[in-house]
This record gives sequence, structure tokens and C-alpha cells, in this order.
Amino acid sequence: MQPKGLICAGGEATRLGELTRVTNKHLLPVGSWPMIYYPLQQLQLAGITDVLLVTGKGHAGQMIDLLGDGRLAARGGADAVLELDLTYKVQTEPGGIAQVVGMARDFAAGAPLVVVLGDNVFERSQSEAIAAWAEDPVRARIFVKDVDDPENFGVVVYGEDGTVTDIVEKAGVVDTRYDSPPTSHAVVGLYCYPPDVFDVIARLEPSARGELEITDVNRHYAASGRLDAVEVEGWWEDAGKHWQHLADIGRLIEQTGANR
Ligand code: G1P
Repeated sequence: MQPKGLICAGGEATRLGELTRVTNKHLLPVGSWPMIYYPLQQLQLAGITDVLLVTGKGHAGQMIDLLGDGRLAARGGADAVLELDLTYKVQTEPGGIAQVVGMARDFAAGAPLVVVLGDNVFERSQSEAIAAWAEDPVRARIFVKDVDDPENFGVVVYGEDGTVTDIVEKAGVVDTRYDSPPTSHAVVGLYCYPPDVFDVIARLEPSARGELEITDVNRHYAASGRLDAVEVEGWWEDAGKHWQHLADIGRLIEQTGANR
């Protein structure tokens, strides 16, 4: 069964301060595009056209104004920027990424699911690794990248045989088993799940910050030996961290391109 796509584009984006008082973070400019175009294009490049976009209550209108039904021609030209079949859902209370994934149950209708966080931008689309997973999507696949600030992310812990034995979400803050991150291998915002992900989410308990954590979903797959962690090809950035970062990522995209 062909995988479906999910973009998580909710949240209040308080880390971006004045920029996100009335605008959704994912609509802010990164390079020459609104941020949300990049993860949408990434799904398209992986051959996934049936996409659900979940956003917060205050911003659904702007999101629909921008993206419409998912078929978007370039301004002043005939070239298609996006050729997707978009469905929308509104998250009324922030409850974590896993809660958003759970909202895709009826949409997925038994299909495997590729999830991209709306603020993640990749130099390379990772479409080969996604396609390889999609050939037999019975395991979960996450993507990892070595970072200088692992305290801001979920990180993976490997066993001696190289398999993932644990995942630690924002060590010391969300996951209090550790004071500091045990590794610098961050889990990025791109996840591939088999259809049973919704049963996993249905059994989750909220974390210390009161959210359903995507890290707990991934830890479940790791514990049952059904998780693969793939190294991200090229650079990867989480554009939701700081306003200065938006311009830095724009410059990176100018130099190398994105989703190549
Ligand atoms: C989320 C996940 C975290 C992951 C990160 C990637 O964190 O909880 O595991 O490393 O995305 O961008 P957030 O940025 O929502 O705090």
C-alpha cells in the first residue's frame, strides 16, 4: 500500500517571539519560500501525494489561503511548485507530535505513514531512504544527525551491535533519567511508520511536559526491535529555534539548494 504523508504544522512557536504573534511559524520566509513548502516538497519528491496537514486553530485559514488543495503554480509562471492532494485537520490544544500523528488515523486508513515536521528543512530530500523503507514498511524508520546542541532534541543511544537501544527526549528537561544528553545523535523531524503506529499512540501516557511524545513512539519500536535509524544525507536544520536561524538557513539554501 502506497504510504501517505503527514505534516505537523501546529504549535505556538514562542521561541520565535514577535514574529509569530499573528502568523504561523511555518508561513515565515526561509530563503525564497514560506517554510512549509520545503517539507511538502520533500514528501512529493518521495512520491507521496496524499498529504494531511495538521495546524493550530488560529492559523488554519492562512494555511489554506496559501496552499489551497495542494496544487500550486509558481507566481507569474506556469511551473508547478507543488502538486499534492492536501487534506487539513485542526489541532485545538497543543498535545505533542504523537497526538498529531494520532489524528491521522482515519486519513491513513491502513496505509503506512511518512511524517515530516513543518519546520524541518533538509539539503537532500532523503527520498531514496524513504523509498527503500516503503518497499516493505513493516518497521519504523527514523533519521539522525550529529549536532552541537543535543540538549534541544531527542537523541538516540546505540547498543554494541549498532542497533538503537534507547531514545532520550531533551535530557534533563523532558527525560529526567539523564542530566545531559547521552549522545549527540539527534533524531530529526522525519519519521516513517508502519500502520500499527496508531495502536502504539493509543497506549501512550503524557510525558513530564504533559504531551504525547513522538520519542515514546520511537522508543516502543526500538524496544521491540523494529526501529531503523538512518543517517541524514546533507545538512538538516530545525527552522523553529530562533529568528536569526531563519536567515542563516535561507543563506544555506542559496548556497546548496534544498531537497536536492
Ligand atoms: C521535536 C522532537 C525531537 C526532535 C525535534 C527535531 O522537538 O520532540 O525529538 O529531535 O523535533 O526537530 P521540538 O522541536 O518539537 O521541541
